[in-house]
Order: sequence, then structure tokens, then C-alpha cells
Amino acid sequence: MPGKKLYFGTNLKMYKGIRETVSYLSQLEQLTADMDPETVQLFVIPSYTSLPDAVRSLRHKRLLLGAQNMCWEEKGQFTGEISPLMLKELGLDLVEISPLMLQELGISIVELGHSERRHVFGETNAMINQKVIAGLKSGFTVLLCVGETEEEKNWGISDETLRIQLKTGLKDIPPGLTGRLWIAYEPVWAIGINGQPASVEYARDKHELIRNTLYEIAGTDGREIPLLYGGSVNPSNADALILQPSVDGLFVGRSAWNAADFNALIRSAIHSAAYKQQCT
Ligand code: 13P
Repeated sequence: MPGKKLYFGTNLKMYKGIRETVSYLSQLEQLTADMDPETVQLFVIPSYTSLPDAVRSLRHKRLLLGAQNMCWEEKGQFTGEISPLMLKELGLDLVEISPLMLQELGISIVELGHSERRHVFGETNAMINQKVIAGLKSGFTVLLCVGETEEEKNWGISDETLRIQLKTGLKDIPPGLTGRLWIAYEPVWAIGINGQPASVEYARDKHELIRNTLYEIAGTDGREIPLLYGGSVNPSNADALILQPSVDGLFVGRSAWNAADFNALIRSAIHSAAYKQQCT
């Protein structure tokens, strides 16, 4: 896999308040200080209330920060939503660093369409599409999450579901901005405490389907979009998942919420990927 960049990130969901987030980030930064962001991209997506302190606490641009959601409008009557302008504002008071770094040290990622947003809070593909367009136009890297429910899997319509989520979620995205698009495949039935991890073969097949669909949507640019797997990633399946040619990274929940454990999982996966590369 020469030149394959690997992505490892975590979504902290509705866990960790400000102090815990800052302490987690500081540990993770120290533990991963030797990792080269050219080959390993790390990211953390904390709660909204932790974001300002998280931005200020980071010392390097190695680790990117993201928001768990974002409204498609910049302002308006959207109680409880967060505007792209509000996210962009975070980090702008970091006067001691250069303007170039400001961009990279603020919030650079917006996570959109996570299964909990879709299935607990009723976000539709049409809403997610508006958010994806707004996120890209506002200069963020958009991490679009897609995944089928257990019911859809049992009905045999996983592929159709994924294609619908991708084709509607990415409809009319501004040309030339796919360089700031990442996709996470997270089968809903594999996420969280009641989830069953997808088999490596299943994940590989769905990643291949997603890659082909992205090619259909964005042509050759679609081949470059990082494709991450999420859903009960843990130390016993992370290495096998990252070895799949169609898997560019891992989007981890529970197994990443202790910085030392996440560091160990990342290092083991990187080691396996490097070993495979040596042998091919
Ligand atoms: P778990 O790894 O805890 O299943 O969560 C995955 C996830 O939802 C990442 O967004």
C-alpha cells in the first residue's frame, strides 16, 4: 500500500465534559507526538461545550478537531443548532499563532449524518445533504457517515440504502470540493454497547460498494476520498480492518475514549499496515 495515508479518529458523542476532554487531548497529543500527519491523520470530535477549550489546549496541528453536527444555515430561527460561522469563530482568538495555523488549529471537521443523528433525532437524507453542502462551502472537511440499520440488512437492502444515502447526501456538492470530503461507513447494527462488530469481509464488501458509488458520483476524484470504517472497532479487529485495501481509516467510539488504549490501537494498526506493505 505505498503512500496510503491512514486516518484514526474518535467521536466522543455525549461523553466527557470540558476538563475530561482537555485532559484526554493532552494525553493523546503526548502519546502520539511522534506520528507524522503526512501519513497518519488523527482527529477527535468532542462535545460542543468542550470545543473552545479543546481548540485552545491543542499544541500541534497533528491532531484535528471536529464538531459532531452543524446547521446548514449561517443564522436564523434554528433553536439548538450550531451555525458554520459559530464553529469557524472558534480558534480566532489564538493570537499567538500565525494566520496560516489558525485555519488548521480551529475546528476543521464537521461530522454529519451520524446514525444517532439520523435514527434518534430524525435527520433525513435531504437535511444531511444541505449540511454537507454548507460544510464544504464553509471550508470544513466534511465527514459524512452512512450505514444501514439491522432491519435494512435483514431485508437485503443494505447496498440500496448506502447508495441512497451517498447519492442524496452528496447531491449537488460544489465541484472541486471533494478533496475536503471523508466518508465513514458505520453499520447502525454495529455501533455502540449493543452493537455486533461487522466481519472484516462484510466491511470490505460495503467499502468496495461505497468506493464504486463515489466514483459514480465524483469520477476519479471519488477514488481519493478517504473511507473510514466505524462500529465496534476494538483492539481485536482494528488490525484486520485497516489491512483491507478499501479501508483508509478507523472511526472509533468506546475503544478510543481512554487515550492510552486509543494510542495502542492506532500503533498496532499502523504496525500491521506497515508490515503488510513490506511484504507486498
Ligand atoms: P463504537 O465504536 O462505540 O461502536 O462507536 C462508533 C461510532 O459511533 C463512531 O462514530
